[in-house]
Parts: sequence; structure tokens; C-alpha cells
Amino acid sequence: HELDMKLEALEKGGYDHFMLKEIYEQARSIRDCLRGRIYPSLGKIQLGGLEEYSSKLKNVDRIIIVACGTSWHAGLVGEYLIEEYGRVPVEVEYASEFRYRNPIITEKDIVIAISQSGETADTMAALELAKERGATIFGICNVVGASIPRITDAGVYTHAGPEIGVASTKAFTAQVTVLTLIAFYIAQQRGTLSQSRLIEYLTELNEIPNLVDRTLQCNEHVESIAARFKDSNNCLFLGRGSSFPVALEGALKLKEISYIHAEGYPAAEMKHGPIALIDADLPVVFIATKNASYEKVVSNIQEVKARGGHVIAIVTEGDTQVRDMAEYVIEIPQTDDAFVPLLATIPLQFLAYHIAVMRGCNVDQPRNLAKSVTVE
Ligand code: AGP
Repeated sequence: HELDMKLEALEKGGYDHFMLKEIYEQARSIRDCLRGRIYPSLGKIQLGGLEEYSSKLKNVDRIIIVACGTSWHAGLVGEYLIEEYGRVPVEVEYASEFRYRNPIITEKDIVIAISQSGETADTMAALELAKERGATIFGICNVVGASIPRITDAGVYTHAGPEIGVASTKAFTAQVTVLTLIAFYIAQQRGTLSQSRLIEYLTELNEIPNLVDRTLQCNEHVESIAARFKDSNNCLFLGRGSSFPVALEGALKLKEISYIHAEGYPAAEMKHGPIALIDADLPVVFIATKNASYEKVVSNIQEVKARGGHVIAIVTEGDTQVRDMAEYVIEIPQTDDAFVPLLATIPLQFLAYHIAVMRGCNVDQPRNLAKSVTVE
């Protein structure tokens, strides 16, 4: 037993929990995920796993993404990226719904399954159905040689390394990184972005691991915010565009490891219902980085403040407008809108982590949850 404990401590590499270790691994895991796949100065992306299907991707009319949980959130970020840069319509489905609703799929479709474990029963079944109906099936998986990568026609591994914590962290950012690569790969095949734009995007993408490293420095600051809100019963997460799935992911992280009820919403949906929840006890986490919808998010922040809610805002470094309004701000480095999810997710992981630790929860193995859900 003592040996087991020592072994586990060794595996945690000096961190108190696997989750914290895995959060800190993200600069490295994203770097590994990009390695050998991007050539910024040439504006070129190479995805060996998809090469055989490059002309299929060039001519595809529709992509369907199937996944569960955090992987489904990555899929939503992927939808935003693939539609924005590759200009291909994307649908994102919960695998568990897709498999039981007689979906319309043809040989022309590409269905992409996203799964850290590669063993999730619902995701596997959704893929089998898509295959039966003639679609081309791809996988985005972390575990090499798992069931999903074995049945797919092609795929891209995330290379995040083993993820032990039940709450997915580095696997999520690696999935988003792969989806970013796929979006730009499609753009390259279809010519929807000029070579010079591709060079700019890939040059910035190549810098992301360094920006992740800088973002990780927010840990202590987020810990102090966690101390303030650890006893909350509810929490709201709001964002727009690709920050909406980041909000969903922030809420899921908090729910699963701290058992605090949390909801993620698109910021503009607040007025259609959730605004009724706002009172002096409710923390509201905004992703309010500088982009086209910044001013709209700023007015949402004002609406929350006016109702006595507590605003915690993730902002772009140097922001002053939100700083003057929010109770707490967490800065992340400036980057292109395309890459914000990779940075904005990190403070939310820390927030969930610290709140869970402060509440005495079993961070790495939360109650009722399994790392991979191999049953229905
Ligand atoms: C993530 O924090 C969750 N534990 C869970 O939602 C998970 O993402 C989901 O079960 C899907 O797992 P997969 O990626 O291995 O398919």
C-alpha cells in the first residue's frame, strides 16, 4: 500500500492531483499536437491521417460531428472554426441522440467522432450507424489504438498523453487544437483562405503553446477568486461565438468536480430566461475578450451588475473597460479570435479545480463518474 502511494505521488509529478498536473501540461500537449503538422512560413498544414481523404474534404457538402460531454464541447468549437475558415456546414450532435433518431446521412457526408478515450459506447454506436449508412467516418481520439480509431476510415490523434483525472482538461484543448488544424486544412484544400492569411494564422497558432504557458500564470489569482466563491450554490458561465462552448465547458468542469450547479449559456440568451436567476448570491463568469461582440458582452455584464450579481470576467490583457465594471478580472494574452478557446478555457479549469479542492471533493475521481463511459 505504501508503495502504491509512493508510485502515485511519483506519477503526479509533484502536483497534489492529476487534474492539476494535466492542466499544467497543456503548453506541452498542444505543442505535441501541432508538431510536424504545421509549416507556418509556408502557410501549410499536413495531416497525414487525412491525406487519403483530402479530395473528399475539398468537395464535402456537410460535416457531422458526434461526441459526448467535454468532447461535444470541443465539437462546438470545431463547428465555429470549420464554418468560419473552411466554409463547410457543420452539425454537432450528442452521440446518444444521434444514434437513436434515424438521422439523415448519405455517402456524401463526413462524420467525425471526437473522443478522448476512444471507447465511449454512445460515440462508438453513432459512428457504426454512420458507417452503415455509407458516410466516411473520421476519429479525433487521444488513446492510440482504442476502439474508435480502429473502426474509422481515417483520423487524427490528439497526442495529449494519458489523461488520468476524470475531468477532461488537456484532452479538451488538444481536441480543439486538432479541430483548428482540420479547419485550416479544409481552408487550404478549398482555397477559402489566401496563402498570406494562412501564413498569418499558422504563425499565430505556432505561438499558442507559449501563450498557454503565460496563461497558466493566472493560477494563484484564480485560486483567490475560488476562495471567494467556493460556497456558492450556483454559477453561470456566459460567452459568445466560440466562447459559448468554452462557457459550457467551464460549467461542466465546475459541476462534475465541485458538485456546484452550473450552467453555460450564450451571453445573448441571458435575457430569455437565465437573467431571472441573478441575485446577490450568484457568481457569473463572462468570457469577455476583445473581439467583434465585445461591446455586446460588456452590456450583458452591465445587466448582471445592475441586478447585484457578481461578475468574474476573463478579458484580453490590458483591457480597461471591463476591469472598471467587473468584481474580478482574469487576463489572458491577446490572440486571434480563432485561438481564444485554447486560452480562455484554462482559467475555468483552475477555477473548478480550486473550488473543488476547497470544498474537500475528490478532484480526480468525482462521485458517480467514470473516466470512460463504455455503457449506455
Ligand atoms: C469530461 O470532463 C467528462 N468526464 C465527460 O464529459 C467526457 O468528456 C465524456 O464522457 C466523453 O468521453 P470521451 O471523450 O472519452 O468520449
